[in-house]
Amino acid sequence: MNKIVVGNLKMNLTLNEIKEYVEKMQEINKENVIIFPTNIFIPFFLNKDYNIGIQNICSEDRGSYTGEVSARQTNSLGIKYILVGHSERRKNNNETDKKINKKIKLANKYNLNPILCIGETKKENKLGMTKMVLKKQINNALKDNKLNKIIIAYEPIWSIGTGNIPSKKEIERIILYIKNYVKKIHKIEDVKVLYGGSINKNNIEYIKRIAGLDGVLVGKASTNYSEFIDIINLYLK
Ligand code: PGA
Repeated sequence: MNKIVVGNLKMNLTLNEIKEYVEKMQEINKENVIIFPTNIFIPFFLNKDYNIGIQNICSEDRGSYTGEVSARQTNSLGIKYILVGHSERRKNNNETDKKINKKIKLANKYNLNPILCIGETKKENKLGMTKMVLKKQINNALKDNKLNKIIIAYEPIWSIGTGNIPSKKEIERIILYIKNYVKKIHKIEDVKVLYGGSINKNNIEYIKRIAGLDGVLVGKASTNYSEFIDIINLYLK
């Protein structure tokens, strides 16, 4: 797979907006575009030329868990990707390292490709703790999980939704660190690293020049179909 563009719609857009969004996205016929709609709208996105993913799965395999969706159910719908460890879920939904680890295990069991989100806070960044934080998040997520490929999204928490992005050099340094570390310590040969945080159509050309980057994860700007289509075309052309 070439470079990847991920759109995370989070809890945005209502039925009519989704219908319009899906219609406009028809022109996107690239399998390396992955859209993560809000769960209830997933059926509108099925059987398209682009891929879709689920924003979250339950950390339990099956059973009585009201409001949850399992990896097995996700697989049965033909979905191929899941987001794991997004900082919003780590912060608001008790997405602990232990749960993240279990979710990756289930993803593996049911043939879903996890996109593991990792990132440091502003304070950790200022204190020079970034690599240490990322290393811990990676280790806890991948421990005892036998994977032969993984997509990791580097998303500095201080960059998500703020308009601030690290320098190109800084992102390049982190990408290299993540790739080397995961290959060496976790013996995963196929490691792709995405960047996420405040990406929009104005900075996508800048992001595109980052060496070693395998793709981008777009939040807010992906909820506007015309901006998202611009981002996809600019990044993948
Ligand atoms: P943002 O979100 O593009 O709105 O900063 C990115 C994310 O949360 O993955």
